[in-house]
Amino acid sequence: MSSSIGENLKMTIFGQSHSAAIGMTLEGFPAGFCIDQEKLIQFLQRRAPGKNAWSTPRKEADEPEFLSGLVGNTTCGAPLTAVIRNHNTRPQDYSMLKDVPRPGHADYTAEVKYHGFQDVSGGGHFSGRLTAPLCIAGGICRQFLSDHGIQIQARIAAIGGICDEGEMTGSVAEKEFPTVSDERGVEMKKKISDAKEKGDSIGGIIECTATGIPAGLGDPIFGGMESRISAILFGIPAVKGVEFGAGFGVAAMTGSQNNDPFFWRGNQIETETNHAGGILGGITTGMPLVVRTAFKPTPSISREQTSISLSQKKTAQISVPGRHDPCIVPRAVPVVEAAVSFAVLDAWIGRKKEL
Ligand SMILES: Cc1cc2nc3c(=O)[nH]c(=O)nc-3n(C[C@H](O)[C@H](O)[C@H](O)COP(=O)(O)O)c2cc1C
Repeated sequence: MSSSIGENLKMTIFGQSHSAAIGMTLEGFPAGFCIDQEKLIQFLQRRAPGKNAWSTPRKEADEPEFLSGLVGNTTCGAPLTAVIRNHNTRPQDYSMLKDVPRPGHADYTAEVKYHGFQDVSGGGHFSGRLTAPLCIAGGICRQFLSDHGIQIQARIAAIGGICDEGEMTGSVAEKEFPTVSDERGVEMKKKISDAKEKGDSIGGIIECTATGIPAGLGDPIFGGMESRISAILFGIPAVKGVEFGAGFGVAAMTGSQNNDPFFWRGNQIETETNHAGGILGGITTGMPLVVRTAFKPTPSISREQTSISLSQKKTAQISVPGRHDPCIVPRAVPVVEAAVSFAVLDAWIGRKKEL
């Protein structure tokens, strides 16, 4: 199982939804950086469950406990390891899933791969809960990048077909429901509560922008920024699509529409448009890096669905018990920021080595 990623920075994520703890190890992070613990906890709180109607009622404090890599709050160059203890576990909610796999979840594929030894409780190692340690690692990377003039911020771009409107600004990411348009946000929340009422769930899109990014990050062919960023984004459970800049829209454009004309702004080279999403040849142009991530509707729904009984080798009905997010998107906004921050810092460190 590969739960590690990165070239110059290496992140490993461990634990299961209902194990004693979940956590991360980050290797290669620059020594001498003072982590703002308060800011890190605030960042993790944006993802934490149990706070509002569009999140699972499972309550977890989600406070990181650093085991190594720090002297005081300053990184010392040794591998940085932090854990979050799991408290609010209810493994009994999941016992029947060993026989009747949830449609849309990883129960069936985990059964095939691990021959029945997998931890099914709360989705085990496949759980969305494992994005909390990703937020510890990525939250630290995001703080470091911010100190170096690179801001990474995301918003909810769409939920259930309702699209956000307006330009992203710095404060949007910090909102409890991060849309630019509050009106559109209200419509999206209504879509979520309608789905929840029907015992169903709903999906959506998160847009993340990195500004202040220098030109020249990333490598050609397989080390390009699109490859680096999407490899981490696709590690987030429930992600089914990633697009950069104009994304799939480029397929319907002509070259003259899609190409971003260059111009000089003083001594700086910019482009008039940004259909490339800040990346050409896998390398950053210096324009904002823009990436959109599509999340599927939460697979665990209380509405009855058709599955199979593995023991009885026949069709079975399933109505998933337990506590689940009716829509993953709002809680996943900081997770996307964390993933993009990790990929950008990994490439940034690589570029520093070249110069
Ligand atoms: C923040 C977050 C919360 C999630 N919450 C749930 C949940 O409450 N119930 C559920 O069935 N899936 C949830 N998921 C999604 C599943 O973990 C995911 O769909 C499953 O592991 C299968 O992986 P796949 O969708 O990538 O194929 C969540 C994902 C994230 C990122």
